[in-house]
Amino acid sequence: MRKKIVAGNWKMNMDLEEGIKFAGSLNEYFKNKTDVKVEIILCTPFIHLAVMKEMLNQKKLAFGAQNCASEDSGAFTGEVSARMIKSTGARFVIIGHSERRTYYHEDDLLLNKKTIQAINSGLEVIFCCGEVIKERDQEIHFAVVKKQLEDGLFNLAPEDFEKIVIAYEPVWAIGTGLTATPEQAQEMHKYIRTLVKGKYGNETAENVSILYGGSCKPSNASEIFSKPDVDGGLIGGASLKKEDFCAIVEAV
Ligand code: PGA
Repeated sequence: MRKKIVAGNWKMNMDLEEGIKFAGSLNEYFKNKTDVKVEIILCTPFIHLAVMKEMLNQKKLAFGAQNCASEDSGAFTGEVSARMIKSTGARFVIIGHSERRTYYHEDDLLLNKKTIQAINSGLEVIFCCGEVIKERDQEIHFAVVKKQLEDGLFNLAPEDFEKIVIAYEPVWAIGTGLTATPEQAQEMHKYIRTLVKGKYGNETAENVSILYGGSCKPSNASEIFSKPDVDGGLIGGASLKKEDFCAIVEAV
């Protein structure tokens, strides 16, 4: 059975002290919970990673980064490599978030290099895909997602693809308060699973977790997560509020 996952994407929020306090409160909340059958991941800014290892009960809460360099090491001022991320004890990294694609012009080729770096460093990758509103209006959203997956992921060896979690995040739903309907999410997730099946076969397709992201909140989480091909969520804004994040985990 494939894994259910809720990943919080803190984005560029919380300084070190705030992050420690917040992660500590989540750790406390989940400490004594025995009924949570969901992998919970906190994707924090780089500055928090090294302390997360010390403070989180990693049987309950995993952690990861939101980006990594496309190169292994060397003269790349300001970059953080996948190997450095791994050395903090992090297990995950988000790659291909639409904010990276849009504001930092990260294209499929670069994202593929980052993915390979991450996997070679022993990280698991939450690989984001999704269309902008114009593409949905033009009814090319399936083609857009197909290309993102083909160019970003589908040259991976089958054993490496097992380290991938896919996050479908329609860009028009991120931080906007607009959410894909459960039917729209299910339709795309099913399509993505079909693509994975075509490339890697039925068993891999059935095992890959596909998360939905884009204005997930406690009030819409249960309905979206009840769809058969939606295996959890990548949560932005609501991951910064303890009550909301915990409620979404419970919904999954
Ligand atoms: P949101 O962000 O939940 O604030 O819409 C989701 C994301 O960007 O991963």
